[in-house]
Amino acid sequence: MCGIVGYIGYREAVPFLLQGLKRLEYRGYDSAGIAVLNGTLSVVKQKGDVAKLGEAVAASHADGISGMVGIGHTRWATHGDPSDRNAHPHLSMDGSIALIHNGIIENHAALRTELQQHGYLFQSDTDSEVLVHLIDHLWKQIPFIDFESAVRQALSLVEGAYGIGVLSSREPDRLIVARHGSPLVIGIGEGEYFVASDAAPLVEYTRRVVYLADGEMAVLSADGFSLKTIGNVVQEAVVTELDLELDEIEKGGFEHFMLKEIFEQPRVMQDVMRGRVLLEEGAIQLGGIMDMLDELRMARRIIICACGTSWHAGLIGEYLIEEFARIPVEVDYASEFRYRSPILGEGEVMLVISQSGETADTLAALRLAKENGVKVVGICNVVGSTIARETDCGIYTHAGPEIGVASTKAFTAQVMVLAMLALALGKDRALGPDAFLAALGELASLPEKMQRTVEESEVVRGISGEYTWAEHFLYLGRGYNFPVALEGALKLKEISYIHAEGYPAAEMKHGPIALIDEEMPVVVMVPKDASYWKVRSNIEEVRARKGKVIAIATEGDEEIAGAVDHVLYVPEAAAFVMPLLTVVPLQLLSYYVATMRGCNVDRPRNLAKAVTVE
Ligand code: M6R
Repeated sequence: MCGIVGYIGYREAVPFLLQGLKRLEYRGYDSAGIAVLNGTLSVVKQKGDVAKLGEAVAASHADGISGMVGIGHTRWATHGDPSDRNAHPHLSMDGSIALIHNGIIENHAALRTELQQHGYLFQSDTDSEVLVHLIDHLWKQIPFIDFESAVRQALSLVEGAYGIGVLSSREPDRLIVARHGSPLVIGIGEGEYFVASDAAPLVEYTRRVVYLADGEMAVLSADGFSLKTIGNVVQEAVVTELDLELDEIEKGGFEHFMLKEIFEQPRVMQDVMRGRVLLEEGAIQLGGIMDMLDELRMARRIIICACGTSWHAGLIGEYLIEEFARIPVEVDYASEFRYRSPILGEGEVMLVISQSGETADTLAALRLAKENGVKVVGICNVVGSTIARETDCGIYTHAGPEIGVASTKAFTAQVMVLAMLALALGKDRALGPDAFLAALGELASLPEKMQRTVEESEVVRGISGEYTWAEHFLYLGRGYNFPVALEGALKLKEISYIHAEGYPAAEMKHGPIALIDEEMPVVVMVPKDASYWKVRSNIEEVRARKGKVIAIATEGDEEIAGAVDHVLYVPEAAAFVMPLLTVVPLQLLSYYVATMRGCNVDRPRNLAKAVTVE
């Protein structure tokens, strides 16, 4: 979703603002803009990407886009179409205040009407513009208040979610930022400060950061900053060290971040397990949840809440926890859970899964559970994210920054964490010592098997070239591979815009079979497991109706080649780790089909990396 950057210090702000917006591109956006203060405010904003914005800024340089205080924004349209006039920053009518905003102001209509009655004219259709006029109005209306108080007063009248950055030529040595729902991080330099929606734009400049908590507001100047609540209570700033390297947020020779991230997965698997899967000791150690392990083991029910790909990981988690720990699990879309009067009771534990740690619905589900006295465990990738901070305890996935909008390595890291969790819960209970050790061995051998799987990318590329014409795809799998079918379908549709659906293989004959003809490619996960022959029957049903079958099968299963149109092999592995292998060819298939169709795989249309609005 929208991205925010800001700078105040001793150097020209524009290079940081443009480079920072570039680093935030992965979040998804449709327009971009900056405002720089140098006596007066200069604003350049327009529909289109950051590169185009850079050209526009360069073209207007003669007009003075220069200054040591500035803000920048990438907008993902919610209220009002993607256009020049709806792009941020928004200016007050006299041009003295500039504002950027992430989130949604829910009472914008009422505030707009009120401000119009006071003579304010609106230039955009956005909810955000209300805020800049409100600040201006209060600053002019209330005697003797300053910029900071005007912002504070305005925010107290706003309902909804926001991360904001505000500048004013009336108090030019200040940059004010505040957050309620939309993340913001301050980077601390020597005589300079940086602001961004996440740490990616900051890493080249500083490693010392302060994550704003919800309801906090910071007033930055070149000499220092103050941190208070919106209600004006002084807060202590907790400075943390950034654990992020520049090469982690660059493409490193790959054509796209998505491909790089698919190829990183074998290493990510090792990172996830490091210090946690202790083969020699025959143990799994999950430091982050140590204090809650017993409570989890005794849980009457575990409720998993997540969205999108993380929800698919949650489904695999359900299979894992029920198989190994014998604890009943329910998996919910966070967006449904929060609005359906869920029954929450004693002995229940919630598990929330989120790559970004900022997904609005997942966060709301977490808060609802906590309000009802239910403990919440988090599985997050982004360190210091809101969900990571608000859960009672949790396990980081250690996948590193995921820049491609389509989740790949974060998904496999989530599944790996869930496998470790299920085994840790089941150890010495449902899972005997031999079975536990065998399972550990399966985990330990996975990175090498995954490496062999990604190395088959050229084979996947070849097959992909034969299906760029398709308008529909069906994905089928059973057991652990049913959620993989859902994930494969989601991956394909989000980056190639081909309609795709995932089903449990046995469900096909209850409806989707009606769709099958020679124009319907069907991807079937058919590893050598307990349901192998049942899935083979499903394949026959597809072939009898002239559907094209791409099978994901186990190495050594030569015989299947005669029964399908194409086979992609994955190494032999236990059923519970198979999703970590079968998903890889599906990620690659989506990637190649999408790139061959000319799609922007890293930034697919309409999508955002972190969905911070409902
Ligand atoms: O950051 P989260 O894991 O909470 O995000 C959840 C979904 O928005 C996300 O998985 C989305 O479905 C991705 N585009 C999938 O590739």
